[in-house]
Amino acid sequence: MSNPFTVSLVSWHDGEPLLRAIRETVFIREQDVPEELEWDEFDETCRHALALSLTGDAVGCGRILTNGHIGRIAVMQPWRKQKVGTALMEALLNEARSRKYQFVDVDAQVHAVPFYQSLGFSTEGEEFLDAGLPHIKMTLELKPR
Ligand SMILES: CC(C)(COP(=O)(O)OP(=O)(O)OC[C@H]1O[C@@H](n2cnc3c(N)ncnc32)[C@H](O)[C@@H]1OP(=O)(O)O)[C@@H](O)C(=O)NCCC(=O)NCCS
Repeated sequence: MSNPFTVSLVSWHDGEPLLRAIRETVFIREQDVPEELEWDEFDETCRHALALSLTGDAVGCGRILTNGHIGRIAVMQPWRKQKVGTALMEALLNEARSRKYQFVDVDAQVHAVPFYQSLGFSTEGEEFLDAGLPHIKMTLELKPR
């Protein structure tokens, strides 16, 4: 069966209202991340992955920086555990491969480690706090396809 959602890569300019809505719901309201930490200057230069339902509702998002750092992966609660996060990551990993990056990394929230491990990422170093939440760095070596 085909997915009940689509994922596309968008610029901040084109995706801003929907990307903001998802991150406000997931990071600021659900996870209590302070607004001033959520929004930064990198959004303008990132490529963003945006998942939409077939009726156009915002479902999930993520971003990749120009240095291969992936972050802000968020799936709206009712859509979790349906492979939306996996599809967002695959879109961002394809973007990284097309840019010929050899490695990508994430600062994973500790609860999300199994999610990134399911995509092949490995943990590196010690846990640290960011926005009050425990994180750990994870990396993935990209093999050309
Ligand atoms: C983490 C998150 C992005 C995962 O998205 P998702 O769409 O639910 O993930 P998927 O359905 O693609 O899951 C793929 C695999 O990841 C793992 N996984 C996903 N969520 C998990 C969880 N809460 N606990 C343990 N493993 C999990 C499982 O191995 C899963 O495979 P399975 O369904 O066959 O068991 C989502 O839970 C989320 O948005 N959480 C809130 C925001 C957040 O914490 N983002 C991460 C910031 S680093």
